[in-house]
Amino acid sequence: MAKHLALITGASQGIGKDLAECAAKNGADVILVARSKEKLLDLAKDLTQKYKVSAHVIPSDLSHVDAAEALYAATQRAGLKPDIVINNAGFGALGPFHQDDLQRLDEMIRLNCLTLMKITRLYSPRMVEEKWGRILNVASTAAFQPCPNFAVYGATKAFVLSLSEAVNAELSGSGVKVCTLCPGPTETGFHSVAGTSEVSLMKLGLMKSEAVARIGYAGMMRGKSVIVPGFLNLISSILSQILPRSWIIMTSKFLMTRT
Ligand SMILES: NC(=O)c1ccc[n+]([C@@H]2O[C@H](COP(=O)([O-])OP(=O)(O)OC[C@H]3O[C@@H](n4cnc5c(N)ncnc54)[C@H](OP(=O)(O)O)[C@@H]3O)[C@@H](O)[C@H]2O)c1
Repeated sequence: MAKHLALITGASQGIGKDLAECAAKNGADVILVARSKEKLLDLAKDLTQKYKVSAHVIPSDLSHVDAAEALYAATQRAGLKPDIVINNAGFGALGPFHQDDLQRLDEMIRLNCLTLMKITRLYSPRMVEEKWGRILNVASTAAFQPCPNFAVYGATKAFVLSLSEAVNAELSGSGVKVCTLCPGPTETGFHSVAGTSEVSLMKLGLMKSEAVARIGYAGMMRGKSVIVPGFLNLISSILSQILPRSWIIMTSKFLMTRT
């Protein structure tokens, strides 16, 4: 099989950066996408030197309504045809819903849902034609239950999980797998952006971003539908699906409250 080409969004730091490293370590050429051009250029240089792969940089604000179409057009123009697409860029914002900033919520839904859906839609047809492809959509353990104080973020991740599982089922037998990575709390810049550094959930501990990325990348290459890294996260995701909804929502509210 020809060399893989992996497109990774949100590759400038955190889980996305580590996923890009996993891809390059496994011999794939990479397309790195995020807003921070300098960070992407540094990473591209590093991956090229360490793993002898090609690394392309496409700076983009993926919260713009037509960002996915622009990204797709840029890769088409450059003759870049990824057979691995990782939709990782995303952010959250802690707060009671009735006080949330409407513009920020709009941006969150466009980045976490709209752009992810469009990227999945735009890049999957060629994968189906080629009879092989992998799409890894990054959701969260927040996808498994409503998240009071993190309501819109939780809802965006439930969207990601639902969309990805449905499309994965549609594509069964095609050679293309749409996988969902559901990390729990992970040590990245996410929490300073989201304002979640001091919620009770953090007391249960954070996983290292490298471990989340390694497990996610390996699960995606195996074609696993839903990947929940870490034992505690796996147990909590199972409990969320079998315990009474009212208990789960109460627990979730407690965990997402500042200590
Ligand atoms: N950390 C956690 O505890 C945790 C848990 C569950 C799920 N997740 C999910 O994991 C994914 C990665 O998050 P992380 O923890 O690695 O957070 P992070 O360290 O804050 O990284 C977020 C990445 O997304 C990019 N990004 C943010 N806004 C963007 C925009 N408008 N356009 C393009 N790129 C954008 C950022 O790059 P630029 O700033 O350069 O654009 C950065 O590369 C997210 O989808 C998040 O929801 C995280």
